[in-house]
Amino acid sequence: MKILAIETSCDETALAIVEGSFENGTPRCTSHASVVHSQVDLHATYGGVFPAMAKREHAKRIISLLVQLCGTSTDTPRVFAPEALERASILLEREPETFAHIIEHLPTLQTPSIDAIAVTTGPGLEPALWVGINTARALSVLWNIPVIGINHMEGHIASVLLAQTTPTFPAVALLISGGHTEIIEMASWGDYTILGATKDDAVGEAFDKVARILGLAYPGGPKIAQAAERAQQNREVEVKKLPRPMLATPDFNFSFSGLKTAVLYAVRDYRENTHLEPDALLPEAYVNAMAHEFQNAVLEVLVEKTMRACAESFATSLIIGGGVIANRALRNAFEERVAATPNLTLSIPELSHTTDNANMIGCAAVLALSRREAQVDAPLVADGSWRVSAA
Ligand code: KG4
Ligand code: ZN
Repeated sequence: MKILAIETSCDETALAIVEGSFENGTPRCTSHASVVHSQVDLHATYGGVFPAMAKREHAKRIISLLVQLCGTSTDTPRVFAPEALERASILLEREPETFAHIIEHLPTLQTPSIDAIAVTTGPGLEPALWVGINTARALSVLWNIPVIGINHMEGHIASVLLAQTTPTFPAVALLISGGHTEIIEMASWGDYTILGATKDDAVGEAFDKVARILGLAYPGGPKIAQAAERAQQNREVEVKKLPRPMLATPDFNFSFSGLKTAVLYAVRDYRENTHLEPDALLPEAYVNAMAHEFQNAVLEVLVEKTMRACAESFATSLIIGGGVIANRALRNAFEERVAATPNLTLSIPELSHTTDNANMIGCAAVLALSRREAQVDAPLVADGSWRVSAA
């Protein structure tokens, strides 16, 4: 089964062609092609993602990315039925730029040989999600190919399939991204029970906010990771130990907002004690040391709680997905702990599949199509807070 996957839930416009099968409960997926356009430079100026701006940028890029993915054809231009064009124009009424690009490029596009179109319908920023949804439905009508809505977080779980790992069940999944932090129990593919989640900020969000406090650019995750690495190599400055929030609570919930505030107060005290102006740059050695201590605090809480969830669920596999698992120190910490745990294997995506992409949406579609049907012009609706347990 070949799938064209579309992802526009946040600040990456991404498309991919994924081939997959699902036999005897075992999914297999490979990626044939993938394109991602990141809006990160645009949003970095504002220190975060603005939904209306993200939407506009998706609408501007999505069809040119499709052309990049599929290529153009030298055959006679394809002619679409007037009714199909009419329907597509209605679907893209609010994205006239995307419709204009369709009219311009679709006739000469190398039409992909696919069985279904998969599109993220949630969770995420609703204005941004709608661009992907309306485009997917328009393509579905024009090509007469069924379309299915996919949960973005199931995508992060399914991203491990591209690393050719085969998780066994029961499994525990840890999802750590810019918008989510969840520990999930999986009895099988598609059977998700949320054991715990963050009570306030998501872990990626905490990285981004702490980066801002330390004067590092958005998105903060990679910047904190680099600063922490520099501290590891050169320990010139010592900072006070930060709290490990909810480390000892018997549940599987998290809280990262207090940790962020602890960094804020520590920085404020440091400025006072060293007579640094409120808007003056912090010394690099201090930023490195604080980034290192913050990363350690997050790492410790994530690893301890996840490993306990694995033990209590009798999990034989641990799956980790989401942008934050791009973090080297976190990957190493989990690799070490799982290696030291009998009867537990670790499935993590390759680095290139950790942050948002459409390959993972294609993989989740392989799973979802075993439970739900795709249909031409399916009445898909954006659901900004769609939980993976209802996927
Ligand atoms: O999964 P993702 O690409 O988008 C969402 O679905 O949210 O995750 C993005 C998040 C951002 O908060 C970013 O700062 C974080 O992942 N991130 C990292 C690293 N790379 C990206 N956090 C820590 N260390 C990293 N190396
Ligand atoms: Zn994501």
